[in-house]
Amino acid sequence: MPTVVCVNGPNLDLLGRRQPEVYGALTLSELAARVRGWGDDLGLEIRWIQSNHEGAIVEAIHSARDSAGIVINPGALTHTSQALHDALLAVETPAVEVHLSNVRGRERWRRRSTVAPACVLSVFGRGAEGYRAALRHLVHRQVNPPLIGRYGPHPDQVMHMRGSGGDVGVVLVHGGFWSDAWGLDTVEGWAVDLATEGVAVASIEYRRVGSGGGFVATTADVARAIHRARDWLEVPEVAVVGHSAGAHLAVWHALSAPTPQRLTVGVAGIYDLAVADEHDLGPGAVPAFDPQHRTDPMRAGRPGGHLALVHGEDDPVVPSSQTIAYGESLGGEGAGVDVTVLAGTRHFDLLDPRRDGWKAIRASLGAVIG
Ligand code: DQA
Repeated sequence: MPTVVCVNGPNLDLLGRRQPEVYGALTLSELAARVRGWGDDLGLEIRWIQSNHEGAIVEAIHSARDSAGIVINPGALTHTSQALHDALLAVETPAVEVHLSNVRGRERWRRRSTVAPACVLSVFGRGAEGYRAALRHLVHRQVNPPLIGRYGPHPDQVMHMRGSGGDVGVVLVHGGFWSDAWGLDTVEGWAVDLATEGVAVASIEYRRVGSGGGFVATTADVARAIHRARDWLEVPEVAVVGHSAGAHLAVWHALSAPTPQRLTVGVAGIYDLAVADEHDLGPGAVPAFDPQHRTDPMRAGRPGGHLALVHGEDDPVVPSSQTIAYGESLGGEGAGVDVTVLAGTRHFDLLDPRRDGWKAIRASLGAVIG
């Protein structure tokens, strides 16, 4: 079984007692048990280490030289330690940086990470679940490691690409209520599945609320990334698939781009910003992203290209009424809009390529990628 070394830095031994409103109620040993359980599910053995000493953490990183990956939460050393940066570079083992709290939404000094440039991914603000996301990313890398492309100077102006060539490539736009705690790793299951089939695919990151995003920076990044992805994947055309707020961004691109994508697939999407705002989805997400609802698909006419909308009937995060009302407003099937509402399916089920929801999404893509 491949081993992942999970390294935790200063003060994380106090988890559960230490500012639980910031770091959560789990103790370190409860967190370790949870991470080991996720490791079992993914076929990974977890070597769990915690130390309050920088030198011991450097040595823990050294000990991971021949392992499948490193998951590292360096605590406050994140913000100062060049030694940890250098150790991570020295071992060449793929490392994912994890923080329980949203380090970008707190004191200014926490925004800086000296280890991030030596890591393949940074996950923050998702509590214990961030460790699971890190393990999943390490597994996905083993199956199919992405090429990283930067389309701007901001650290979030980045995309992960797999494969190239063909008639139509696929661009994936992740969701998360336009907020910076959620990233491109959430759509990586789709990316790996498509790449395994030989489809050229790019998962795009973009500036989000909390990290310089909001309307118009976010929508401008998505447009730029889609444009670049077409070149870098070496495909004449792309289909764009978005999940949740990413579906909103994909549809908005089809509405606003001079040459919209051939096909847009919106999955569990938000298309009526007024209603989403009224129901306080997010909560507070719509006013933080686009307070005047200037990017409201519901009030913006017919998007270019073909449109397919997929939603789980039992979605507690974004209600399926968003998809049903938007599909109806565009004239439904007769107008070239395919609407699929899947019984027994929730919001995040649709991100899992082993579940039925992905089959429906993949079938919609079949119209252009075979
Ligand atoms: C932390 C964030 C750091 O800024 C802080 O010093 C920690 C924990 C987190 O997990 O959120 O100790 O890494």
